[in-house]
Amino acid sequence: ALVEKGEYRHFMEKEIHEQPDSVQHTLSHYLDFVNGRVKPGEIDFAAVDRIQIVACGTAFYAGQIGRYAFERLAGLPCDVEIASEFRYRNPAVAPGTLAVAVSQSGETADTLASLSWCKANGLKTAALVNVHSSSMAREALVVWPTHAGPEIGVASTKAFTAQVAALLALAVTAGVQRGRIDPLIEGELVKALFEAPRLIAEAVQMDGALRGVAHELSKATDVLFLGRGAMFPLAMEGALKLKEISYIHAEGYAAGELKHGPIALVDELTPIVALAPLDEVFEKTASNLQEVAARGGPVIMIAPKAAPDPHGAGISRIDAPDCHPLIAPLVYAIPVQLLAYYTAVEKGTDVDQPRNLAKSVTVE
Ligand code: G6P
Repeated sequence: ALVEKGEYRHFMEKEIHEQPDSVQHTLSHYLDFVNGRVKPGEIDFAAVDRIQIVACGTAFYAGQIGRYAFERLAGLPCDVEIASEFRYRNPAVAPGTLAVAVSQSGETADTLASLSWCKANGLKTAALVNVHSSSMAREALVVWPTHAGPEIGVASTKAFTAQVAALLALAVTAGVQRGRIDPLIEGELVKALFEAPRLIAEAVQMDGALRGVAHELSKATDVLFLGRGAMFPLAMEGALKLKEISYIHAEGYAAGELKHGPIALVDELTPIVALAPLDEVFEKTASNLQEVAARGGPVIMIAPKAAPDPHGAGISRIDAPDCHPLIAPLVYAIPVQLLAYYTAVEKGTDVDQPRNLAKSVTVE
C-alpha cells in the first residue's frame, strides 16, 4: 500500500508521531496487559545460557539497550556486536547461546550473514524484525516481530523504539521464566511498559523547547551526547541521528567516560546534550555535567521536572515526562529524535533521503 505523509512535512516527522501506536502494537504482541503478565513465547529463556545480539546501525544501539535489560532483569549474560565485525572474526560462542539478529528490514547483508553463521554453528536463532517475511525471518528458528509498520525515512525512528520495546518485554519475560522476577514485580514491570505509549505521546509534545535547542545545535560543528546505563546507547543513537540527517559531527559517550578523553573537546562552542532520567545513576550524571559546565560547555540536560538542579552555570534544562526507569529509553528516544529532526530542518537538509545513505544495506 502507498504510504503518504499526510499533514506532515517529512516522513520522519510522521514516523516520530506514530510511536505511541507502534510501541503499543509491538508490546501487545509480547505482553498481556489485561492480566499484567508476560506472554510465553517460543523461546524458553530458562533453557538459554547466553544471548548474542548482532545488528548494524540503529538496530545495534537497540540491541545494547536490550543487553542492559537482559542482564539486569533476567541475570542472562548478553553480548551485542556489530554484524560486520562478528561475521568475519570467528567468534567463540558458547553452546546454549541464543543468537538474536535485530533488524528493521531483515535484509541487511552483514546481519543476515551473522545470523546464518550462528545457525550453521549450531546455535538457536531468533530474528527481531519489522519485515516479517524478510530473509532473516525465514532464516531464523523464531521470529520476534516488531509492529512499527512501513518505515520510509532513511533514519530509523519508530522501528528503533519498536525494537527497544520488544527487547524490554522479552527481558521481563526472561526474568520471569528464569525465576528472577516474582508475580508482583512482573505486574509492576508490565504496568510500567503499558504506560510507555502515553508517555511517548507526552514526550512528542516537548517539541517547542526542543526547537530552540535545535537552533543552537544547527550552529555547532560538534555535539556531545551523554548518558549512563541504558541512556548510554541512546546517547550514541542520538549522535548517529544528528550525523545522519544534519551532517553535524556528534559523539555519544558514557557520562563516566567523559574525563578519559572527550572532556578535552569541551569549549563554549560544543553543546553537550545529557540524557538524565531520575534513576539510580542520576546523581553521577549530574556531577559529570557540573564538570563540563565548569569548563564552559553549554549543557542541555533532558530530565524530569522532579530531578534536582545540578549546581553550575550554563546548564539549561528541558523537562521530560517522569517515567519508570525501565521505559526511559523509550521516552527519551523522542527528544533525541526530535532534536536531530529540528536541527536538520533548520539546516535545510534532505531529511528523509540524507546524502550517501540507504534505507537498507543489502550489499557489503
Ligand atoms: C542502514 C539504515 C539505518 C539502519 C541500518 C540497519 O544503515 O540507514 O537506519 O539502522 O541500515 O538496518 P536494518 O534494516 O538491519 O535495521
